[in-house]
Amino acid sequence: MSPSRRDYDDHLLARLYDAEYDEIDADLSFYLDHLEPGSVLELACGTGRLAVSLSRQGRQVVGLDAAPAMIARARQHPEPVEWVVADMANFSLERTFGNIVIPFSGLAFLPNTETQLRCLACCRQHLSSNGLLILDLMNPETSTGDSNPLDRTIKDPLTEQIFTKTTQVKSGLEKIEIFYTYTSGAIQLNHTLNLCRISLAQITEALEISGFFIHETYGDYRSNPYTSRSPRLLLIAIAM
Ligand SMILES: C[S@@+](CC[C@H](N)C(=O)[O-])C[C@H]1O[C@@H](n2cnc3c(N)ncnc32)[C@H](O)[C@@H]1O
Repeated sequence: MSPSRRDYDDHLLARLYDAEYDEIDADLSFYLDHLEPGSVLELACGTGRLAVSLSRQGRQVVGLDAAPAMIARARQHPEPVEWVVADMANFSLERTFGNIVIPFSGLAFLPNTETQLRCLACCRQHLSSNGLLILDLMNPETSTGDSNPLDRTIKDPLTEQIFTKTTQVKSGLEKIEIFYTYTSGAIQLNHTLNLCRISLAQITEALEISGFFIHETYGDYRSNPYTSRSPRLLLIAIAM
């Protein structure tokens, strides 16, 4: 069996993603330091890694993701997060939130400027006055060069089968392609991500067009200043 996916709507993939990332909380303190009081809407929430942690901190959280398999896995967490299957470039929840967050390069999953603008327009509609929009993007200046294949092992939490995950990155001027292969015996699952490289100038313009201005910019989860060599590009935006 060798299925190939370009999205996350696969139950095996969702379980392996959860097993690999559920305990990763390097970014949690950043959100706890910067979020305004009140509710949080997380876009592209995956299997709920961050949404669940924020819920445990007493936040009222809605997690939204396009992949039903990722949301099905997220729903297995006991925390009272509201889970929604929807496209982050086209959603209407008919309420506003004190905070909207798009962690782990989530905006870069949208294929072009047009869809990113649609997403930011939805964020504007769903943000309460004085609310914050927090974007966590790859630093476009440092995410360059191709990588050699990198291997690690992950245990499927359902079957306990051990999978080898191989990752290879190909960086282009506008897109970054990431090729994942998960292998266990005769099972092989190929997963390809095609992420947009979003420059600071591009995201600044997109936020302005969408009715936001950038309030603060950071380069890592410890809130150090952003430089061209920072690991991340973290933006905190406010509605105009
Ligand atoms: C890296 S994963 C999950 C990241 C998750 N926020 C975390 O911190 O662990 C990226 C997620 O983006 C979701 N995604 C991709 N395109 C989307 C879209 N148009 N609308 C909503 N979710 C989307 C995928 O389904 C996937 O679950």
